[in-house]
Amino acid sequence: MKRRDALKRLAALGLLATAAPSFAKENEKFCDVYTKYRPQIKNRNWMKIKDPKHPTKGELKHTPDIKIDETNTKGFTKIEVTLGKNGIIHPSSKEHYIDFIEVYADNELVGKTVFEPGEAMGYISYNVKLNGSKTIKAVAGCNIHGIWENKISI
Ligand SMILES: [Fe+2]
Repeated sequence: MKRRDALKRLAALGLLATAAPSFAKENEKFCDVYTKYRPQIKNRNWMKIKDPKHPTKGELKHTPDIKIDETNTKGFTKIEVTLGKNGIIHPSSKEHYIDFIEVYADNELVGKTVFEPGEAMGYISYNVKLNGSKTIKAVAGCNIHGIWENKISI
């Protein structure tokens, strides 16, 4: 078997980490939670909704749902991210969970959270200084189903 074929098969099985979030590299040595559960993280492939007009339940379950709320008197805007969309919420168990969420304003990281398997669900709320940003992007990792992102214009 050629090397490329072997890599494709590993990637299809989710056994090959083809990409890692910036979080993983930056904080690996600082974050005990992430390091502790690293063996449970089986998939670091970037995933995409195949047909955005007709997303599957599995795709909706992994899509970060971004909500922009009010701006407070200090000039910070409340941003909430939930996994997933349309009431199809991603589970949180010891075996299957959202392990992190990152939030970007115009591609600048403004917040990141790591979750304990089975102890916290995939949800964050930050107050963010938007500084005229035009987009908000959320990136989230499922330990089994890979890394998913969503971006909205504001
Ligand atoms: Fe999942």
